[in-house]
Amino acid sequence: MIEKVKIIAKTAGNIIREAYRKNFDIELKTNESNLVTTIDKEAEKTIIDFIKKEYPTHAIIAEESGSQKNFSEYTWVIDPLDGTTNFAHGLPIFSVSIGVQKFNDTICGVVYDIMQDKIYTAVKGKGAFCNGRKLNVNSNSNLRRSLLVTGFPYDIDENPNSAIQRFNRMLVVSRGIRRLGSAAIDFCYVADGIFDGFWEVHLNPWDLCAGKLIVEEAGGLVTNLNGENIDIFSKEILATNGKVHEQMVKELNSF
Ligand code: IPD
Ligand code: CA
Ligand code: CA
Repeated sequence: MIEKVKIIAKTAGNIIREAYRKNFDIELKTNESNLVTTIDKEAEKTIIDFIKKEYPTHAIIAEESGSQKNFSEYTWVIDPLDGTTNFAHGLPIFSVSIGVQKFNDTICGVVYDIMQDKIYTAVKGKGAFCNGRKLNVNSNSNLRRSLLVTGFPYDIDENPNSAIQRFNRMLVVSRGIRRLGSAAIDFCYVADGIFDGFWEVHLNPWDLCAGKLIVEEAGGLVTNLNGENIDIFSKEILATNGKVHEQMVKELNSF
């Protein structure tokens, strides 16, 4: 199955790369920050058509077209274009993210970093890889020496879960914070030992399903901001190398 997930993630990624910096329509979803393009929809349709052909009984949760429930133990969780704002503005950081669950347990995950042509993969219990190279989280245990990454939800003006205060706090207790604009890539960079930690407060299942497994299979830890286990429907996530996890939980809740 992982080989098929890789093929369809790359196929969708190729459609997106072809359209990069060309003309496409942009619509607003909920506000001026929340966009969807015709390319998001085209990529998602390509992925869903493939699943329907290859695995007609499987259920699907996809960002742009919602849920297609089937009485199957398998569910595909799809973000056809993670990083739409970057894509729409011509910033080359965006990905395709696809996770497959069996009875609510993610069994494989693929994130395709389109412009770098890097494919991140994980199969439950079998490790995580980037273009075939084994991934490992880093071993840093000092938060003050950590490079962190976060994201802001589209309703940041409402300051959900005190996102702004948390950001202010983490800025002064770490080495620095980045905001890449693709949650799926943020997870992969934790898995690859680049970032020590990633947190965000308003994610959706398609943003985190594949990335969570990739971090876990690279030896990292993914919980909510209180350090508790989560499923893919948790809005809050904290993904780290495991070593700075407790310190991050403490600081994220310390203001
Ligand atoms: C968004 C990106 C971003 C994160 C947002 C997500 P989208 O996904 O992952 O990094 O901060 O919360 O919604 O809308 O580009 O698929
Ligand atoms: Ca997304
Ligand atoms: Ca998306």
